Amino acid sequence: MTISPPRIGGLDVQGWGDPEDPVVLMIGPPERLSPGWRQWVRAMVEAGRHVLIAPVLEPGEEAAALRGLLIDISSRPAILCSAETLARVAPALVVTGPALASCLIVVGDTPGEAAAILDNLPLLTLDPAALHEPGETDEAAILGFLERQAPREALYYQSGSDPRTLRDALGCFATGVTVVTTLDETGQPVGLTANSFSSVSLDPPLILFCLARSSSNLERFQRAEHFAINVLHIGQQPMSGAFARSTAERFDGVAWETWETGAPILSGSLASFECATHQVVEAGDHLVFIGRVTRARFEPRRDPLLYFRGRYRRLHFA
Ligand SMILES: Cc1cc2nc3c(=O)[nH]c(=O)nc-3n(C[C@H](O)[C@H](O)[C@H](O)COP(=O)(O)O)c2cc1C
Repeated sequence: MTISPPRIGGLDVQGWGDPEDPVVLMIGPPERLSPGWRQWVRAMVEAGRHVLIAPVLEPGEEAAALRGLLIDISSRPAILCSAETLARVAPALVVTGPALASCLIVVGDTPGEAAAILDNLPLLTLDPAALHEPGETDEAAILGFLERQAPREALYYQSGSDPRTLRDALGCFATGVTVVTTLDETGQPVGLTANSFSSVSLDPPLILFCLARSSSNLERFQRAEHFAINVLHIGQQPMSGAFARSTAERFDGVAWETWETGAPILSGSLASFECATHQVVEAGDHLVFIGRVTRARFEPRRDPLLYFRGRYRRLHFA
């Protein structure tokens, strides 16, 4: 079992298993769910689930904090909690439209009110005394239920409804992965992972990427007159992870070179584009950087690193 990064949605969560796997979120002190909760976690991890345990939250703040957590988790999680906890947190699971969870596993009787709010969610009620097949363990019941769950119908986003659904809809567009780089005023290389890359125009040769206003490197990119876009190949997945984490040491151990502008060109990338900043367009919570390509290089024999539905993928030729 591995421990995953501890902060999601501004909360300290405990995590087990591979962060790329579908998430099961446990809410409430796990020891109150069952004395065997550790076995549940182990079984779920072994069955390919990423198990997160939300911290115990202040009454009154619970719903808002939980909603922040759910929006930040990279996939719509299964929720595992007691009936008592569910009664308090059910409003956080629904904004408008589809719930922020994929299904519910509730220990004890599901309170009527919560059940009404969560009418459309697949539900497993775990009541060891009454509901199990003879001989079926809790773990088997949980795993069987999780395996059977899949989205039952198309999901809809409407203006004003939850950002989670919009993110999931956008995640249906498969992209490559790039590391966008520049040099700051002191000559230090800066860079971050970005999949918002797009070609724009051939004549003149323009490309773009979108940078979050929240980026710690926003001003550096705004001040620099050049940037480079490095398209990653499948072997550069660790680099994508490193350039997406908040750490000052992203370039440690990374081979890079410069061409004409000084913007770091990551050696061995699938393709690199050196650009002069052509236009910066403000667009909501991002800035769109449009660059005029001054030089490009590509490697014709490698496969791209892909990103789809919040996970890294590779090309599959049938
Ligand atoms: C696959 C992937 C694609 C990403 N695409 C973008 C993007 O297009 N724009 C962006 O601003 N952040 C994107 N990010 C998030 C940044 O890489 C991440 O927030 C990074 O820590 C920002 O670092 P900074 O604040 O130092 O700039 C992406 C992350 C991943 C893993």
